Amino acid sequence: MNPAALIPTPGAIQVPWGWFEFLLLLTFILHLLLMNALVGGAVICTVKTLRGQGGSAAVHDHALRLPTLLALTVNLGVAPLLFVQVLYGSFIYSSSILIAWWWLAVIGIIIAAYYGLYVYDFRFQRLGNGGRLFLILGPTLLLLFTAFIYVNNMTLAATPDRWFAYFKAPDGTLLNLGEPTLAPRYLHFMVAALAIGGLAQALVWERKRCKGAADEAQAAEHVASGLRWFFRATLAQLAIGAWFLFSLPRYLYMNFLGKEQLDTLLLGVGLVLTLASLHFARKGRVWPTVWTAVATVAVMAGLRDLLRQAYLRPYFTPGDLQVAAQYSPLVLFAVSLVIGLALVGYMLKLWLKANREGE
Ligand code: HEM
Repeated sequence: MNPAALIPTPGAIQVPWGWFEFLLLLTFILHLLLMNALVGGAVICTVKTLRGQGGSAAVHDHALRLPTLLALTVNLGVAPLLFVQVLYGSFIYSSSILIAWWWLAVIGIIIAAYYGLYVYDFRFQRLGNGGRLFLILGPTLLLLFTAFIYVNNMTLAATPDRWFAYFKAPDGTLLNLGEPTLAPRYLHFMVAALAIGGLAQALVWERKRCKGAADEAQAAEHVASGLRWFFRATLAQLAIGAWFLFSLPRYLYMNFLGKEQLDTLLLGVGLVLTLASLHFARKGRVWPTVWTAVATVAVMAGLRDLLRQAYLRPYFTPGDLQVAAQYSPLVLFAVSLVIGLALVGYMLKLWLKANREGE
């Protein structure tokens, strides 16, 4: 049977696909950065607690931020979810149905993790190392598992030829475990999360140091430790990234090794940015490390998108979607976005002012 027969016919879109692609990429990059700070922060707390440093100021600072990071990760996940459904709905809806139980479980898993992170934060001061480990381990594992379900869904959405597995597990309990790229892709995302989690720690303590809000020596130690997490994880990423690349079918990885100009150029830029971020982290320069790391994440998100398009090319290209030329919903969306951002900015201003007055 031809996999194309399993793919639902997509509906028309309101405006040319480039608009949605741009918004998808933009919001996905924000989702990814927040998710990395969240998952990386949670893993760092767990590892430090395992080493007996669960009560350190750096861990406490992570603990305070993790619930907010989770809320923001979810919020900034909704936007790319909408855009990806607009462009790749035939694929993402289908794969979500095939793994339905896992996909629906994500809601409960995230709520449980959220609750756990709040308890960890609220009880932090009153607990010993063992209690803290008990409270952070659960949410960390739940978050790592959530990411695993996402990677299953995203890889399944890109490979309709694997959808036939449904006929062996038609009850919605399928996972894409036979997919050769699953493990390296998952590790690629999670090791990136460790790096960005470490970098977030370095950034927070660098800002505290500049503002004189923390003891100079203590802040310097937490900056250095955050940068070490970033450096080591990014170094490991050079090997994991290569594993991921060569786990792809040859006709796909060759796109990044000279066959397609844009793909090859982006991979080259991504590698140069990675090396630059490693250099800055080694030198202890926080802000240049942050900018080069954020740029690397943005470039990698672009590469991931090109990879999805290459995967789906035998069946579909977003450029083929019918355009109904109705610009008013997009205009309404843009106006709401600007008003929403202005309100969030105003809220943050009030919050910062209240914090300053409270100090
Ligand atoms: C809080 C826990 C979460 C974690 C750890 C997480 C992790 C991830 C990871 C690892 C990916 C990349 C998967 C891949 O490409 O193989 C991803 C993609 C994605 N996530 Fe999240 N996620 C979380 C929550 C959410 C939520 C709640 C939403 C939506 C409401 C969401 C929306 C998305 C979307 C739409 C993508 C794919 C975008 C695209 O394909 O362009 N995420 N997430």
